[in-house]
This record gives sequence, structure tokens and C-alpha cells, in this order.
Amino acid sequence: MDDFVRIVEVGPRDGLQNEAQPVATADKIELIRQLSLTGLRTIEATSFVSPRWVPQLADAAEVYAGIERRPGIAYPVLVPNEQGYDRARAVGVAEVAVFTAASETFNRTNTNAGIDESLARFAPVLERAKADGVKVRGYVSTVLGCPYQGEVALGEVVRVARALHEMGCYEISLGDTIGVGTPRKARAMLHAVAAEVPMAALAVHFHDTYGQALANIDACLEEGVRVVDAAVSGAGGCPYAKGASGNVASEDVVYLLHGIGMRTGIDLPALAATGRWLAARLGRQTGSKTGKALAAT
Ligand code: HMG
Ligand code: MG
Repeated sequence: MDDFVRIVEVGPRDGLQNEAQPVATADKIELIRQLSLTGLRTIEATSFVSPRWVPQLADAAEVYAGIERRPGIAYPVLVPNEQGYDRARAVGVAEVAVFTAASETFNRTNTNAGIDESLARFAPVLERAKADGVKVRGYVSTVLGCPYQGEVALGEVVRVARALHEMGCYEISLGDTIGVGTPRKARAMLHAVAAEVPMAALAVHFHDTYGQALANIDACLEEGVRVVDAAVSGAGGCPYAKGASGNVASEDVVYLLHGIGMRTGIDLPALAATGRWLAARLGRQTGSKTGKALAAT
């Protein structure tokens, strides 16, 4: 099995969408500039959702227009519907991500639409993206539990992931939105999805609410996944997922990966320094243990 793991850095989007205090547009642009120098190949830049639903990212167009897009790095953005796609395309976005869930209640709370309704919303986005040569990633949220429904049926995770893949998403990110998963359950979920969608088209996305994210990632690596979402300094959470805490910290994931002999192409000290810079801008300490440890050495 290939030993290269691609980290999808979601800090500028998932990391900042839930911040209580406003983050300056210039700081978002500076964050992406710094991340672009660390060896990351995918940096989710922002989100073209309704600014009423997520005011923290209302400056998506300014952020995207303000970043220097370096060759070899993809800068995808979230879009919930055609309106978001239009806004993204107006500033030259070349890759988008659509998002739905395996829990009907969560999806309604997050996007005011049922699961099938959201898939129907994505159909024209995917059609237009194909014609425009725009790549589309797909997210399935609440794959290991829902803040409103509790247990989520594995069959529903598989169904939704397969639907996104069949619609043309090149990669499906399986999200433990509220961080309730544990390793064996995470691995079994990935195994079930991989029976229907090729492993090479799957990514995992863990939040660290109960401190299980790294263990879950390790289990999923053993199962064969080679794309991992993470947010520098462990920032983030979904504003419509009650109780959700930060994403797993990218620095901690890279430390794990290098420690088990996998390659990422990422300069860990540089990434950790960016995490500490971001945390300082947000007025706190980095949420990455690796980031703290490297600062002390
Ligand atoms: P809605 O209110 O049902 O939308 O929201 P609507 O189509 O009825 O439109 C209502 C208003 O919103 C209209 O404005 C539209 O123009 C505007 P008005 O005429 O009233 O002034 N509008 C928009 N404006 C800008 N950009 C747009 C857009 N769309 C409509 N794209 C909608 C439906 C999906 C838009 C809304 O629910 C929404 O934006 N939700 C986003 C919630 C969100 O971003 N959540 C966090 C991301 S998901 C996540 O974090 C999980 C993930 O990390 C994985 C994991 O951890 O599991 C990905
Ligand atoms: Mg998330």
C-alpha cells in the first residue's frame, strides 16, 4: 500500500467558521499564505454558504480573490447550492466541495434540506462543474453519530457516499462531525463504505471532542485510507452541530504519520509555527500538542 498520505487542510474553512470573534480578512489570507509554504497540497480556503448562516465566512470572495494560488496546490471552497457555485466561479474558483449528511435531522439543521433534497441541489452544481472543468469533492457528515438523532445507520452512510460518488464527486470525505467515534467503529464504517466506493476516492474527517481523533485516523490508515482532513492548531467545529469541538490538529496528524513511516511532503516545524501564529491571532494557545512540544524544543 502506498505510504503517501495527503492532508486536506481545512483550517481556513472548518477552523474559522465557528469562531466567536470576527477574524480579519487579511489574517485569513495570511493564514493561507503561510499554509501554502508548508508542503500542503490541498487547502480548503473558505466557504460560499449563506452569510446569514455563517457570518464568519461572509468575506469568502475577498479571501479567495486575495490569496496567491501557488502551482501544485488546490484551494477548494465549500458550496451548498448553485448560488454558492456562482459566487465561487465569479472569483475564479477551480475546485468546490458539496456537503450533506447521513443524518436527516442534522442535514436539515445545517442546510435547511433533507438528504435527498440536498443531493438534488447538488445535481446542477455537478453538471455545471463538469462542463466548466471544476473538480468537486463531497462531504458526508455525522458518519459516526448525530447530535440530534444519536445513532446513524451505517447503510445510510454508505448510500449517501455512493450517491455522491456516482454523481461525480472525485473524493468523498467521511465526517465524524461531533467527534463521537472510536477506532473500531470508525474502521468498520470505512470498511463498509469502501465496499461500494473505491478506497482511493475516500477521505476521513475527524473532530476531537472525546480525544479519539488520532486513534480513529490510525485505525482508518490501517484500513487503507490515504487522505486525511485536519485543521492547523486544532481550530474549528460546525456551528450547526451542538457540542462539536475542534478538528483534529494537522500538526498532530503529521507527527503521527511521520512517526509510523508515512510521507506527507509537509514541513512539520513550519506547519506547527503557522498553528501557533493562528492561535495567537485568535488570542489563545495552539490546540495542537505537537505545536506546543515543538515550540518548547
Ligand atoms: P436557506 O435559508 O434554505 O436558503 O438556506 P434559500 O435558498 O431559501 O435562500 C435564503 C437566503 O439565503 C436568500 O437571501 C438567498 O439569496 C441566500 P434573501 O433573498 O433572503 O436575502 N443564499 C445565499 N447567499 C449566499 N450564498 C449562498 C446562498 N444560498 C442562499 N450560497 C443554505 C440554505 C444551504 C444556503 C443555508 O442553510 C446554508 O448556507 N447553510 C450552510 C451551513 C454551513 O455552512 N455549515 C457548516 C459547513 S458543513 C460542516 O462544517 C461539516 C463538515 O466540516 C464535515 C463534518 O465535519 O462532518 C463539512
Ligand atoms: Mg468538519
